[in-house]
Formats: sequence, C-alpha cells, structure tokens
Amino acid sequence: MIKKVTVVGAGNVGATAAQRLAEKELCDVVLIDIIEGVPQGKSLDLAEAAPIEKHDAHLTGANSYEASADSDIVIITAGIPRKPGMSRDDLLATNRNIIKSVTKEVAKYSPRAILIIVSNPLDAMCHVALEESGFPKERVIGMAGVLDSARFRTFIAAELDVSVENISALVLGGHGDTMVPLPRFSTVAGIPITELISAERIEALANRTRNGGAEIVGLLKTGSAYYAPASAAVEMAESILKDKKKILPCAAYLTGEYGIDGLFVGVPVKLGKNGVEQIISLPLTADEKQALLKSAAAVQELVEAMKKMP
Ligand code: NAI
Ligand code: 2OP
Repeated sequence: MIKKVTVVGAGNVGATAAQRLAEKELCDVVLIDIIEGVPQGKSLDLAEAAPIEKHDAHLTGANSYEASADSDIVIITAGIPRKPGMSRDDLLATNRNIIKSVTKEVAKYSPRAILIIVSNPLDAMCHVALEESGFPKERVIGMAGVLDSARFRTFIAAELDVSVENISALVLGGHGDTMVPLPRFSTVAGIPITELISAERIEALANRTRNGGAEIVGLLKTGSAYYAPASAAVEMAESILKDKKKILPCAAYLTGEYGIDGLFVGVPVKLGKNGVEQIISLPLTADEKQALLKSAAAVQELVEAMKKMP
C-alpha cells in the first residue's frame, strides 16, 4: 500500500523534506501551510519536477487538514525559525501556540499517525505535541540528534580527510547549547575517534557541533539551516515507513531511562513501524552522565516556563 506523509509548514525545512520524500519515492506527500497558495504552489512545482527526477509520488498542497487524513507520518515544521542573535529558546511562546493548533488538527485527521517534530525549541515542542495529541509516547518523536550527529560526522570526516560514509557519531541530550557529543561512541570505520584525533581537536569539533545551528544562522542571516534538517527528518521517516529499525539519536519521552523521568531528551532509539520501538541505554561515564543530566535540566526549564504561560 502506498504510504502517506503530511508535512506541516511549507517553508524551508518543510518544502525540502517534501522534495526528499518524493524524490526517494517513499510515499505520497501532503504539504500544509497557513499561507494561501504556498503549499499548493510548492507541491505543484515539485510534481512538475517528477518526470525529470523519475518518481511517481503524488504531491498535494493545502491550507487545511482534510487532505492530510489518515497519514502514516506527520512531520511538523510549522513555526518561526531563529534570526541572528536569537537562541532556539526565544521561539518558545510563539511556536508553542503554533504547535498546539497544528497538533490538534493533525491528531483529529490522522489519529494513528506517528509525529516527527522539527519545530524549535525542539524538545519543548515535543512535549506540546505529546500533550495536545494524546498519542502514546512511542508515536511522538523529535528530530535533532540525527542532525547534530550528522554535523559532528561532517566535521570529523573533514578533520581526517576521509569519506563521511566511514563516520558514525553520536550526539545526545537536548537540541541546544547543552547538547552532548559523545566521542567515545563516535567512530571512523569502527575505530573510535579518540584513537585518531587529539583530545584538544575533538573538543574543537564538538564545540563546532554544539554551535552548528548558530553557524548557519550567522551565514544565512534570514533564517536557519534546512537542507541537513530535512535530510535528518526524512531519514527518520524512512526508517519508520520501511520498518528498517535503524538506531538513530532522537528526542524520545523518557520514563526513567538515563535517570530521566517525564522528559523528551535526545537518546539512541530504534525506529520502526510503531515509532520508538526501543530506547537504547548506553553505559555512560560519570562525566557523560552529568552532561546529559545538565542538558535535560535545560529542557526541563523550558517545560516549566511553558506551564506558566496562559
Ligand atoms: P520557515 O519560516 O521557512 O517555515 C516555517 C513555515 O511554517 C512557514 O511557511 C509558515 O508559514 C509556516 N507556519 C507558521 N505557522 C503555521 C501554522 N499555524 N500552520 C501551518 N504552517 C504554519 O522556517 P524553517 O526554516 O522551515 O524552520 C521551521 C522550524 O523548524 C523552525 O521552528 C526552526 O527553528 C525549526 N528547525 C528545527 C531544527 C531541528 O533540528 N529540530 C532544524 C531546523 C529548523
Ligand atoms: C539547527 O540546529 C535551527 O535548530 C536548527 O540548525
């Protein structure tokens, strides 16, 4: 049966995700946005590229949710991105209201869907989507770790002048300045990077990763990254649609794992047709665990701030 994915938010990340989903012929795609004409125009444009790109995915654009009915996955990218000088957390109040209203509609029309949240501040927006949808925690997943790990992989590959395909890396924690790159679990052709790169250089690459989003915002000046974020969201969607059961770092709702309870935090999870099918618990050192708990505390702060909002 042909799968169906709705992407809410036809801006930079949303439209690029729609393009990648269609070009990989993973599913039919419905693109939704509040701006009249934009989702319709972008999906028509993408459909007109199909004969050249050689795929038969159907693309539909809409301003309301009827067309999204019975989606297998809904990727939520609606919201405002940050501008230079803004942190992801500055988006909290605006995007919370947007995610609330979007999730309500999504859950009404696609009660069995798996939600992949992209909008920032990511981990806090996952809480909003979980609460508003009433879905089980396995079906609400945040995209951040795949992107942050891909950035770390890119920088490691450049440092060693080797193929990015040789690099596996892991970044856990919240999607913010406190994220936790884990060199011990990052490898080049199976060799831990700690064997190949000096501690000083690893720390420089980890810092560039933590600052990866801001580096792009500083260059673009009018918005934030979208090619790599779209690729990351689509890798997650592909693992779910094909039931590949890939282990990917994602924001998942923890209930005691890593000593964290009742919070979305980035950890390695197995993604299959049921969403989060397993949370992988890694044996962390005391320092790594402390860094993860610090990152979780930053997420908790945003969740508490949202509780005080009207
Ligand atoms: P963008 O501004 O290009 O697109 C956002 C779109 O959402 C706009 O087209 C806007 O009209 C639409 N929108 C706003 N309110 C809506 C509503 N109520 N219903 C439907 N659509 C609505 O922004 P971009 O670059 O696509 O980023 C989207 C979000 O994703 C931002 O919050 C950004 O910070 C976040 N992001 C998160 C990443 C992550 O790693 N989790 C990576 C990159 C972006
Ligand atoms: C990023 O990391 C803005 O969260 C987005 O690029």
